[in-house]
This record gives sequence, C-alpha cells and structure tokens, in this order.
Amino acid sequence: MIIRQLFDAETGTYTYLVADPDTRKAALIDPVIEQIERDLQLVRELDLDLAYVLETHVHADHVTAAGAIRERVSAKTVAGARGAPCVDVPVKHGDGLALGHLTIRVLETPGHTDDSVSFALPGVVFTGDALLIRGAGRTDFQNGSATELYDSITKVLFALPDATIVYPGHDYKGRTASTIGEEKAHNPRVAGKSRAEFVEIMGNLGLAPPKKLAVAVAANRACGRIEAAA
Ligand SMILES: [Fe+2]
Repeated sequence: MIIRQLFDAETGTYTYLVADPDTRKAALIDPVIEQIERDLQLVRELDLDLAYVLETHVHADHVTAAGAIRERVSAKTVAGARGAPCVDVPVKHGDGLALGHLTIRVLETPGHTDDSVSFALPGVVFTGDALLIRGAGRTDFQNGSATELYDSITKVLFALPDATIVYPGHDYKGRTASTIGEEKAHNPRVAGKSRAEFVEIMGNLGLAPPKKLAVAVAANRACGRIEAAA
C-alpha cells in the first residue's frame, strides 16, 4: 500500500494520499484547497489514478479541495451520509469502498461533528479529528457531542488492533502518526478516563473558534465550491 502524508502549515491539516500499488487506484483524504496543485502533482508523479476524494467530516478550519479536484479529474467525492450534501458517494458505518485490490472500510466516529467518519485499511486508520495524537477533536460546534466522541474513540477506534497506525487529521505539535495501542495507553483525555471525566475535560478546553469557521463550513457543505456570503 502506498501512503503519503501531506501537511498544510497554515491550518495544521494533514492530507493523505493512499493507493493500491498494483492497480494504481488512489484516494486523497481531506485535501486543502490551497494545496490542490501540490497534491495533484504528486498524484501524477506517482502515476496514480485518483478514484476518490474522501472527507472525514465537514471541516471548520480549512476549505476542502474536493469539489475542485472533482472538476479537474474524474475522482468521486465521498463523505459520511450526515455530512455535505454535495458528495457523490454518501457512506455509512460498515461500508466498504474498493480501491483496486484494497478495501477502504468506513467507521462512523461522530462526536467532533455529527458527520465524522474514519477510514480503515489493513493496519492503518485515518481518524480525521475524532482521535488526534494524545488528543481528540473539539466538540463545541457543528453538532459536536463529547459523549458520542468518547464512545467513538473507546468503542469503535479502540476496537481496532493495538498495532494499527493512527493517521490524524491534524497535529499542532509536529507529531505525524501514532498507534491505537499508544493512544489507549497515553492519550490523556481517554486513557483511564470515564465518559463523565472525558465530558468534563472537553467542556473546559476554552478554545477560540477556528479563524475560518464561518467561511469554511458553508463552503465545505458545497465541497468547497462556493464562497460564504460576505
Ligand atoms: Fe475538524
């Protein structure tokens, strides 16, 4: 399996390129509009056929490149069924997407947002903002729910094998990947914490709203292809 991790420094966002080396079928996960040329160039350089653009959720901190990429190449956009209405393939828990000889398995992991999904392939999981390295996505807007997020992390993601590599949607401290076992043991929000303790932690983060919140959510519900009303 081919995996490339790409980074948008302005928003601390990770984009991932995943591909089947035999058939060259590829998927891009959570692309950022400002990085579209970089990402499409990498697809061409690796001689890949971009079949899908996957969104882990409707993002509030950056505008997606999904719609623009769909216009440039024939990739289908994919996201959770409760998410952006613009996507070609709305998916739900347990769905499998064929990527050449690989299968991308959809795990619904709501809580950061109500539409959040994770994408699992053999040995790896792309968790979006549900599970971050030693953290978890904030739950204070976009129908977020700390209760739901606790269950998504501890019952859905932690049910994966401990050796599974975790690729998150963001990191703000320079970390790139983790494992399920590592997060079970060392994630300070969930390791040894009850649901009530997690809800308490998430309710006291005191975070400022993302800078692009108003623009990004409206644009991303249209796959990044409309500007928010001024
Ligand atoms: Fe997010």
